[in-house]
Amino acid sequence: MAKSTTQYVCQSCGSVHPRWAGRCDACGEWNSISEETVEQVPLGGKSSGKKRGSSRGVEFVPLTGAEEQVARMQTGIAEFDRVLGGGLVPGSATLIGGDPGIGKSTLLLQAAAALAVPSRRVAYISGEEAVDQVRMRAQRLGVEGKPVELAAATEVRSILAALDAPDGPSVAVIDSIQTMYVDALDSAPGTVGQVRASAQELIRGAKKRGAALLLVGHVTKDGAIAGPRVLEHMVDTVLYFEGERGHPFRILRGVKNRFGPTDEIGVFDMREKGLEEVANPSALFLADRSEDVAGAAVFAGVEGTRPMLVEIQALVAPSAYGTPRRAVVGWDTNRLAMVLAVLEARAGLDLGGRDVYLNVAGGLRIGEPAADLAAAAAIISSLTGNPIPSDTVAFGEIGLSGEVREAGQRDARLKEAAKLGFKAALTPPARAGKSGGSGLNIAGIKDVALLAHRIAEG
Ligand code: TYD
Ligand code: MG
Repeated sequence: MAKSTTQYVCQSCGSVHPRWAGRCDACGEWNSISEETVEQVPLGGKSSGKKRGSSRGVEFVPLTGAEEQVARMQTGIAEFDRVLGGGLVPGSATLIGGDPGIGKSTLLLQAAAALAVPSRRVAYISGEEAVDQVRMRAQRLGVEGKPVELAAATEVRSILAALDAPDGPSVAVIDSIQTMYVDALDSAPGTVGQVRASAQELIRGAKKRGAALLLVGHVTKDGAIAGPRVLEHMVDTVLYFEGERGHPFRILRGVKNRFGPTDEIGVFDMREKGLEEVANPSALFLADRSEDVAGAAVFAGVEGTRPMLVEIQALVAPSAYGTPRRAVVGWDTNRLAMVLAVLEARAGLDLGGRDVYLNVAGGLRIGEPAADLAAAAAIISSLTGNPIPSDTVAFGEIGLSGEVREAGQRDARLKEAAKLGFKAALTPPARAGKSGGSGLNIAGIKDVALLAHRIAEG
């Protein structure tokens, strides 16, 4: 007999509470807890009743085995394949999260079209759009001739029935997991219970058949894949598709990957006819740069295996209010606060009564601490009115005592800068003078006081 119990689940973080409460004590969210009924039989087999069978124990095997290397399915969209770790792994589940309207459906329809060949069935199941809408998008993308099998459906059991057929699809796209529901549960689609149960069923079905599953997940305002962080544990790979509204660039970022690296990014340009790969992002991010203005510095960054140059812009202005404003786009607010404090304490700069704005041009988000030196240079440059020469890049992490620390992949950063025509670099001091074969003119900056001194000198 199916036994149903009631539980109270936070729709924001997925934690389960024994009773209803106004505020979730796990994540602090208000009014996020709702009642859910859990049918215990359909998910996870029989839960009640007598013990089944006898326990035979598990069998241990050595680490080495005759496991053959699985052949990955490549989309041919290099930016996508690289983030996956070299292509889609059969039997894997991949979650692609992102803000509504960022381009997830576009990306996956393009990927599905690229994967669909007569010898490989690819299914695209949309729970958000009608078949005609997806067809219109396919036309716009110029892939309407590809043998993608399209369906508009939201009920998990019927989707699984279609996927489970003999020689069923080897790739299935579910757009989106928030629209799917398992009819054994009473709660509405999009609630944590439904999302979790639907994902569980779909993943199990796909794994059983060795099909690759691509799940689209919407992201909440605070950046988590809606409701369930639980989803991230259930899938093999989590990718985020991000970008700033009003900028055409889109970044596909690996967050978790059981089959590849997680620090790779793929860069796309959203055009009239879909997403285009950007093979040389540095050139793109630096495209609109103006010459020799105060308050800008080029950061020689690395994303995964790929060096990437971006411009960091700062504006330091007298504050009209008692508490100065600090605003950041594309970087970490806490990191900015730290760099400002270090510049005041260790380089004697007067930033206390000033507003500071920091912007990473092009809509990229930088996570590397190595951006500290370029950010500091941009801030000092704006404060003093002395431009950083436009042929100079910077990288290095700043410590609390004002020292500049080494950053990884020094040579890759310098080479990329040289390739794009830069002539000089402000770098950590450890191996100052060593240009790693890039031919750049290297200035080793040992601390922020020296940085301020150099910029003040012009
Ligand atoms: P979409 O893939 O529907 O986003 P998501 O699935 O993440 O919600 O993309 C929606 C946006 O992309 C929409 O504002 C229009 C734009 N777009 C283009 O600029 N070019 C295109 O070729 C397509 C298909 C969409
Ligand atoms: Mg969509």
